[in-house]
Amino acid sequence: MIEFLGDWKRSHYCGDLKASDIGSEVTLMGWAHRRRDHGGLIFIDLRDREGLAQIVFDPEVNPVAHSKAEAVRSEFVLAIKGKVIPRPQGTINATLKTGEVEIVVSECKVLNPSKALPFTLDEHVDVAENLRLKYRYLDLRRTQLQDNMILRSKVAQTTRRYLSDNGFLEIETPFLTKSTPEGARDFLVPSRINRGQFYALPQSPQIFKQILMISGYDRYFQVVRCFRDEDLRADRQPEFTQIDCEMSFIDREDIISMMEGLIATIFRESKGVDIQLPVPRMTYQESIRRFGVDNPDLRFGLELCELTDIVKCSGFKVFADVSASGGIIKGLNAKGCASFSRKEIDDLTEFVKIYGAKGLAYVKVENGEWHSPIAKFFTADEIASMNKEFGAEDGDLLLFVADKPKVVNDSLGKLRNRIAGQLGLLDKGKYVFVWITDFPLLEWDEDDKRWCAVHHPFTAPMDEDVDYVESDPGRCRAKAYDLVLNGNEIGGGSIRIHQEVIQSLMFQMLGHSEEDKRNKFGFLLDALEYGTPPHGGIAFGLDRLVMLLTGSDSIRDVIAFPKTQKGTCLMSEAPSPVDDKQLRELGVKTLAK
Ligand code: AMO
Ligand code: AMP
Repeated sequence: MIEFLGDWKRSHYCGDLKASDIGSEVTLMGWAHRRRDHGGLIFIDLRDREGLAQIVFDPEVNPVAHSKAEAVRSEFVLAIKGKVIPRPQGTINATLKTGEVEIVVSECKVLNPSKALPFTLDEHVDVAENLRLKYRYLDLRRTQLQDNMILRSKVAQTTRRYLSDNGFLEIETPFLTKSTPEGARDFLVPSRINRGQFYALPQSPQIFKQILMISGYDRYFQVVRCFRDEDLRADRQPEFTQIDCEMSFIDREDIISMMEGLIATIFRESKGVDIQLPVPRMTYQESIRRFGVDNPDLRFGLELCELTDIVKCSGFKVFADVSASGGIIKGLNAKGCASFSRKEIDDLTEFVKIYGAKGLAYVKVENGEWHSPIAKFFTADEIASMNKEFGAEDGDLLLFVADKPKVVNDSLGKLRNRIAGQLGLLDKGKYVFVWITDFPLLEWDEDDKRWCAVHHPFTAPMDEDVDYVESDPGRCRAKAYDLVLNGNEIGGGSIRIHQEVIQSLMFQMLGHSEEDKRNKFGFLLDALEYGTPPHGGIAFGLDRLVMLLTGSDSIRDVIAFPKTQKGTCLMSEAPSPVDDKQLRELGVKTLAK
């Protein structure tokens, strides 16, 4: 029998009841999480978003309610009235917020039954992610996901309060717009009214926020969805949320200190964690040299060693040849890993190949000696110099990659994170921040044979490097900065180009023809000529930030309705084919698969 709410009003959330409520008459509503029948008494853990409360059905108190409880199964929706009493001695549950009390039910309504679930909501049982995503409405009932969504909401509210208190205006920018390049592909939306024409969903509000500065709004922010059609990973989604900010009449230091304040406030209010300010800084160059990557995880050491000078004349042909052709040789001391098996080392070798490395030479240090197929190629002096560079000790495993700098740094940088994981060095309770600064402005793309913007095309060159933009593009540094937390880029921004001539030059360097420039960015170039203030900003990845705050392994666990690695929503089954009629209206024809 299904009953109706009628005039019942909830008095408390289940999860909020505490000892001070003892003696109160309460009305609770929620889901039957678990039911235990103790012959006579029936206990149900009633659950809502705030937690669980134990409700007790006693046939002596209300036989009708008790007989309803007998039919209750997992996830039935109930409303009950009852009295809060202390739990009997010995049955207090210290692990539960409401563990000191229970509610004796005087009246009960069964508001809706539930089919048997396709998986248990028990936190301790692993459920295949695809099943969880198909039944996302059930998955979202799990305590862990509810806690994640509650924390996410808190972070968004703290952000709005902090930025608003600091004079930032929340202004919306369009989703149906023109391409704003951030290095990914665009998602396109066909226009029905303007046949054959397309809107692009914004990869970020970058151009619009700059135009708001030109329009004099001075400080802008938005908690905003961005769309990027790129290959997905655990920390990337095709649509994700940025905390997007822009300020006028400022320099890098103003942005960095304002944003450190924001991050510190978020950590304090959502986690009770105090972040030591100012956050340390490291140049891009130093980061690549010491860690191989521009998003270094500084929770642990395992720094890379530069070995080219030591081995360039050695008898190991691989190293000598690489060095002679302009490559470099770097190493990583996997502390205490000399006991790794052949198989484990082969796995590491396969791993570095993902990043283009051709091999992974290794040395086991035992009893002060090198054990390795390559040991015989080096002189005692060379070995001594390398030992010093590595800080090698008995029990260490020394790993080497020789190749072009990019391949060496990428592969060893990623290997460093992997080995830290294997050694248990990734402490989730530790938050280590670093600003990475002085990025290169442009980077040569070997495949496309052209210069690409390292950050985005609107980032300003450093004042002292402006002349290099044309004469020596690879040498030009940018006024860009990224905030990295535990090896994750959680935010990135820059001071922008605010002069039309430089912006125009920048587009030219990126290979845009005059016509292309006008077609794609004419409105920005025009706007820049009507009194543009110096300005700059930053955007944080809200999903990544919340992923780290909640200790989640994937951003999918902090997004209510995420997509799979293949960009699909398993619950709604998007994307999906559309009617021919709809396509005809849009003037769109699809190619057969
Ligand atoms: P950027 O492209 O660095 O900068 O993006 C800013 C931050 O957004 C997050 N992020 C993502 N999160 C989840 N899924 C994705 N696919 C994804 N891509 C990026 C990252 C990143 O640090 N307009 C500039 C900002 C600016 O210059 O002000 C921009 O979008 O945490
Ligand atoms: P080979 O001379 O190809 O038999 O390689 C000897 C060892 O050096 C093997 O452990 C290879 O994995 C390793 N090796 C080969 N090429 C490279 C390279 N470019 N960088 C580092 N190690 C390499």
